[in-house]
Amino acid sequence: MPLYWLLLTAVLTTPPAPQSAPAPDPGERAFQRCAACHSMRANDHDNPGPSLRGVLGRRAGGASGFAYSDALKAAGRRGMVWDERTLERYLADPVAVVPGTDMPYQGGSAAERAAVIAWLRRQR
Ligand code: HEC
Repeated sequence: MPLYWLLLTAVLTTPPAPQSAPAPDPGERAFQRCAACHSMRANDHDNPGPSLRGVLGRRAGGASGFAYSDALKAAGRRGMVWDERTLERYLADPVAVVPGTDMPYQGGSAAERAAVIAWLRRQR
C-alpha cells in the first residue's frame, strides 16, 4: 500500500476534535475576580461582601442583612445608586469614590469592568 494512502486513511479516520465548550461570557469570566467575596444568590450575604444579585439600580449599602461599612451606608443615604457610571468608578478605585469603604481595589482593565458591569445587569 503506498505511503500516501496510509496517510490519507489516517486523516480520514481520525475522529473530529470534540466541540470545545462555548467561551464563557467575558463578564462572567471577569466576575471570577469578584466571586471570592460576592455571591450572586439573592440575599446570600454570608460572605466577605454582599450578594450582587440585582445590584444595578440598588442604593449603595442597600442590601438588608449585610454589615456594610459606615462609609458605604452614608454614601447610600446621600443618594448614591449603583449604575454603570458609579459602578465603573467604584471598581476602578473604591476608596476614591467612597473613602472608608471596606472593599479593596480589585484591579482589572476598563474592558473587564465594562464586561462585568454588563454581565451583572443581565443577572436579574
Ligand atoms: C476581597 C473581597 C472582595 C472582592 C474580591 C470584591 N469585593 Fe466588592 N465588596 C467587598 C466588600 C467587603 C464590600 C462592602 C464594602 C463596604 O461595606 O464598604 C463590597 C462591596 C461591593 C459593592 C457595593 C454593593 C452594595 O450593596 O452597595 C459592589 C457593587 C461590589 N462590591 C462589586 C464588586 C465587583 C464587581 C467585584 C469584582 C470586580 C468585587 N466587588 C470584588 C469585597 C470584595
